[in-house]
Amino acid sequence: MKIGIIGCGNLGTSILEGIATKMPEIEVFASKRNINSIEKYSSEKVTVTSDNVALISNCDVLILALKPYTVLPFIQEHKEYLDADRHTLVSVATGISIEEILKSSGSNFGIYRAMPNTATAVNESMTALSSNSDPLNRGEFVAEIFNGLGTTVRIDESLMDAATILGACGIAYVLRFMRAMIQGGIEVGFDAKTATQIVSQTMKGASELILQNGSHPEQEIDKVTTPKGCTIVGLNEMEHSGFSSSLIKGITASYKKINNE
Ligand SMILES: NC(=O)c1ccc[n+]([C@@H]2O[C@H](COP(=O)([O-])OP(=O)(O)OC[C@H]3O[C@@H](n4cnc5c(N)ncnc54)[C@H](OP(=O)(O)O)[C@@H]3O)[C@@H](O)[C@H]2O)c1
Repeated sequence: MKIGIIGCGNLGTSILEGIATKMPEIEVFASKRNINSIEKYSSEKVTVTSDNVALISNCDVLILALKPYTVLPFIQEHKEYLDADRHTLVSVATGISIEEILKSSGSNFGIYRAMPNTATAVNESMTALSSNSDPLNRGEFVAEIFNGLGTTVRIDESLMDAATILGACGIAYVLRFMRAMIQGGIEVGFDAKTATQIVSQTMKGASELILQNGSHPEQEIDKVTTPKGCTIVGLNEMEHSGFSSSLIKGITASYKKINNE
């Protein structure tokens, strides 16, 4: 199985790096119109090209990492080179549905939509993956590609917008939360660098507690909230100021926006 990455920009290049590191036995073709920025990836297993027709004719799984508005025109333009018995189409473009891709490519293609986040750059992405009933049954292979960039969860396509909010926009919500903690840390005495280090590792540790223990956040919170202690006083003060409520409201506001409500 050969993988083609069409549109090796920010995300496409992360995907290329992930495959080269985690699936080194797989042959990859990577394209963009100006290949200067990706020539350094050229190797025995990686072919860098600006020729999309050559890429399509050489590869089985085609990852479309183009800007959203260019995805459907690209498929229409290259329709004559696409073969449903061979090619699986994987789109990472925000907001382009499986139905729209099917209409552009013709029926019978296995189509996947993947929604990673910017943590692909450090192989810690949360990628949501959905598909039609792929006749070539390549779901595990496609998941393996994105597992190379972090973790993958299979979802119904109807939840793709919700996954975009929680996972992709979620990076920004978490970072804003971290910024606020750092600002608080500076107010209680740390310089910015030390506060950032403490907050970043604390965030990582809190995530690992949930991921590794499989526990509910409140169970872990119970372990650090001594009765009448400083943690519960601080937590309750945050809640009086609308902490949980503002996060939930922000997430639902983003969700309304993505749905043009
Ligand atoms: N960045 C993220 O973390 C992230 C997360 C989730 C989803 N996405 C989605 O991923 C897609 C790409 O985002 P991005 O941030 O990586 O954009 P980007 O950096 O602009 O990458 C797009 C690349 O496509 C290339 N390109 C344009 N036309 C082409 C063609 N005809 N053939 C081959 N390559 C072509 C461009 O390079 P040339 O101009 O040299 O051709 C460019 O490098 C978007 O649809 C976005 O919605 C991104």
